[in-house]
Amino acid sequence: MENHRPLKGKFFVLEGSDGSGKSTVATGLYRELTARGHRVLKTREPGGSPIGEEIRELLLNPQNSAMAPRTEALLYAASRAQHVAQVILPALEEGKVVLCERYIFSSIVYQGVGRNLGIEEIFRLNQWATGALVPHLTLYLDTDNLKREERLKKRFLGEEPDRLELDGDFLERVHRGYGKVLEVFPHAMKIIDATQSPEAVLKQCVAALEKEL
Ligand code: TYD
Repeated sequence: MENHRPLKGKFFVLEGSDGSGKSTVATGLYRELTARGHRVLKTREPGGSPIGEEIRELLLNPQNSAMAPRTEALLYAASRAQHVAQVILPALEEGKVVLCERYIFSSIVYQGVGRNLGIEEIFRLNQWATGALVPHLTLYLDTDNLKREERLKKRFLGEEPDRLELDGDFLERVHRGYGKVLEVFPHAMKIIDATQSPEAVLKQCVAALEKEL
C-alpha cells in the first residue's frame, strides 16, 4: 500500500527481537545522519508521544498480568496511531528523517504470531490505525539465539524484566515468528546481519539508508 500523501521526509524503521541491538544502532544512526547534515528525529514504540508513553506504561507493567491479547494488540495500535498523528507525520511533513525503533512489523510478530491473533488481522488493524503510513525502508536486525540471550541477560542484571519479557516461551515464539513474517510482510525490508561487531552493523545500516536519502 502507498503512503497517501507526498512527504518531504524519510521514514525509517528498525526491527528485531528483544536483545538484537536496535537501540545501539538507532543511536549510531542518529549520530551519523546528523553529522551528514540531515535533520533527524529518533523515536521508538510503544511510546514516542506523551499519550503513547502512558500507554507504554500500561503495556509493560509486570503487574498487568490480566491483560487480554486483544487489549494488548489494541493498545499497541493506539500508541502507534497517536505517534503517527502527533510526531511522525508532522516531522515527515517538515522534511525530517524519522528513525523509529519498532513499528507495525513488531505488532504482527508479537501479537499476530506470539499471541496467535493472526498476521492478516493485526496488519489490517495497524494499517487503519496509521492511515496506512508505510516506512520507506525497514532495517531488520537479524541475530542468533546466543547473542540475543547474552544481551538480554546483561540487561536483566541492571533492570527488572517488563511484562512481555517475563514470559520466556512467548519471547521464543516471537523470535521464531520473525522468520515467518519476513516471508509475507509487504513493506520494503533490508535484513542486516546483527551478529557482526557493532561497528560493522552500523556501517551496513548507514549504507542502506544512504541509498534512500
Ligand atoms: P522495549 O523495552 O522498548 O523493548 P526493546 O528494547 O526490545 O524494543 O519494550 C517493548 C516491548 O513491546 C518489546 O518486548 C516488544 C513489544 N512490542 C509488541 O509486543 N508489539 C508492538 O507493536 C511493539 C511496538 C512492541
